[in-house]
Amino acid sequence: MEAVSRTAQWTAAARALETEREDRLFADPYARTVADEIGFELLDRYDGGGIVPFLAIRTTYLDRAIVRAVEERGIRQVVFLAAGMDTRFFRLPWPDGVTVYELDRPALLEAKAEMLKDEPQPAGRTRTTVPVDLTQDWTGPLKEAGWKSEEPVLWVVEGLLFFLPEQAVRTLISTLSAHAAAGSVLLGDVISKSALENPLARTFMSALKEDGNPWLFGTEEPEALLADCGWDVREVRQPGEPGADFDRWPYPVPARNVPRVPRSFLFTCDLPGATGVDSGVAA
Ligand SMILES: C[S@@+](CC[C@H](N)C(=O)[O-])C[C@H]1O[C@@H](n2cnc3c(N)ncnc32)[C@H](O)[C@@H]1O
Repeated sequence: MEAVSRTAQWTAAARALETEREDRLFADPYARTVADEIGFELLDRYDGGGIVPFLAIRTTYLDRAIVRAVEERGIRQVVFLAAGMDTRFFRLPWPDGVTVYELDRPALLEAKAEMLKDEPQPAGRTRTTVPVDLTQDWTGPLKEAGWKSEEPVLWVVEGLLFFLPEQAVRTLISTLSAHAAAGSVLLGDVISKSALENPLARTFMSALKEDGNPWLFGTEEPEALLADCGWDVREVRQPGEPGADFDRWPYPVPARNVPRVPRSFLFTCDLPGATGVDSGVAA
């Protein structure tokens, strides 16, 4: 598995910890298996800066937004870009007829298949894995796997954008809008550029670089990035703000106009012209 794919085991380890809390926000009973020992080693190595509470918040925000988007929009194709060790196919309450596409590097998908090979497939839903490099053309392989570009799609891009150079981020997000039929939704996360440059994060950033998976991209203006790439931004939330706190975020949230603050942003977008539907994540 490539170094960057190991980071999927790191985030899975954080989901395992949340799952094992009495006051858990979600249960991912597969997380400990797919994280394996390496996931917990990385959790120690990349410790600090609110990573564990952030990952609990990110998972919860996206879980709820995914369920809501599928229910409200009647979307029946869901594409996880850089799915990693995500097990939402197994653990979320999908309506009958949903197809979940999991896109990631081939070696990761093979390792994940091996780790989950004894899990029974839930009825009424289909899971299709598509091995790709998301910095190359990936829509061809996705089409071959059965995805229909003329039908609405829910794109989920979680924990990926900071690994890509800016041009690759822009190309990817623009490809998502260019290939989305009316009613489609985009969910995901991105960090601020200041998060890359913050002196307090130097050890963390150096460890990522040493391990061969440096963080490369951040922006203070996620709204502008998403709009430039063809999306109508329904909401952008930082952890700790209403709708993205869930009683987990331990830090104050500085106002957006305070400069040089390391930030993470969670976003929900529609295609231009779509009537906004309340994501309800604040509930
Ligand atoms: C931090 S993990 C996030 C996984 C999952 N979405 C989550 O939130 O737990 C980053 C994922 O991005 C994938 N990835 C990074 N660069 C990629 C690329 N160019 N093409 C496909 N997948 C990529 C890695 O293999 C890894 O699974």
